[in-house]
Amino acid sequence: MLSILVLHGPNLNLLGQREPGIYGSVTLDTIDRQLEQAAEALHVRLSSLQSNHEGTLVDAIHAALGQHQGILINAGAYTHTSVALRDAIAAVAIPTVEVHLSNLYRREAFRHHSYIAPVAIGQISGFGADSYRLGLDALVHYLNHTEG
Ligand code: DQA
Repeated sequence: MLSILVLHGPNLNLLGQREPGIYGSVTLDTIDRQLEQAAEALHVRLSSLQSNHEGTLVDAIHAALGQHQGILINAGAYTHTSVALRDAIAAVAIPTVEVHLSNLYRREAFRHHSYIAPVAIGQISGFGADSYRLGLDALVHYLNHTEG
């Protein structure tokens, strides 16, 4: 059975109370539960981690080697700053889908650039909590049809 690592970056632990006008009122626990349900229907296993620390996320990407076949990541603000996360994803070469609750391109210019995007299969941005489910669907579809 395919195993997917779900990574949530900084400040996403505050979902539900954090800028609800932008990120909605759904908590991270609810997002993880919804993803679990979607994973069951897709017949894949999920392992989820949230961290506010860049190095912890880098370590988790390294540890995914040999354990997980795909990565679903919302790197939060590290999306726009972290060469280290980008390099980690490139290093392990595990197919990765980037997701964002908000539509980055309708927001401040500094959010328009993603260091993750060039090493990801693709990006889903702007569908609120649904971005995660859509991203998981796209990732699993990619893995089932590309990796044999
Ligand atoms: C975010 C968008 C980022 O720009 C921001 O720093 C976040 C959340 C999103 O899911 O919309 O923390 O990744």
